[in-house]
Amino acid sequence: MNDKFPLVVANHKANKTWEEILLWLNQVGPAAESFTGSVVLCPSFPHLAAASLEITKGNLKVKLGSQDISRFEQGAYTGEVAASQIADIVDFVIIGHSERRDKFGETDRQLSAKVQNAQKVGIDSIFCVQTDNDLIPEGVNIIAYEPVSAIGTGNADNPDNVIKVSKALKAKNEYRVLYGGSVSADNVKSYHDTDEVDGFLIGATNSLDPQKFIQILNALK
Ligand code: PGA
Repeated sequence: MNDKFPLVVANHKANKTWEEILLWLNQVGPAAESFTGSVVLCPSFPHLAAASLEITKGNLKVKLGSQDISRFEQGAYTGEVAASQIADIVDFVIIGHSERRDKFGETDRQLSAKVQNAQKVGIDSIFCVQTDNDLIPEGVNIIAYEPVSAIGTGNADNPDNVIKVSKALKAKNEYRVLYGGSVSADNVKSYHDTDEVDGFLIGATNSLDPQKFIQILNALK
């Protein structure tokens, strides 16, 4: 893993048409140019290939991640996307987001299989946890701490608690730790002022609007 930190990840969830992604890239791409960390866009699966071509064409400083992958390898799994199918397009995959755990019933065992599949093909997992006690599979280097109460609520966790959780996670292993949950241009600095937080996972609240996302990048400069 030779990524530059802070890692600022936009999780678009099930939002945006291709036209809208293009507009987003055309605005965030130039802003990412002067950002010293890494910008990662996680659009829905159908947009990954086109986004990859656009990034190459414009030589944009934006990396790609997927929001999930299959727990299975390639094969007879209708509707699934295997890690090996997107390994040449994405650098990252979000695994274990609370929406996947809660709305799709994903289990620790399934999440662990996903991490292994990603690792086999060289994709870095961004593994989401809700507390520092959640099970973290082997092969994870980047963790996103996202308390459910902070996701999409405007009720971000307080910096002292985020730092405490990050320290506890880092005491277990040499993890990079991101924070996610109502991150905005107004609060992002309060988490980043210590070495404990290595980046941010930004969902629908402030990653869909390219200008709000750019304001977060600017606040981190
Ligand atoms: P939010 O979502 O930024 O809208 O709170 C975070 C996430 O779901 O990863």
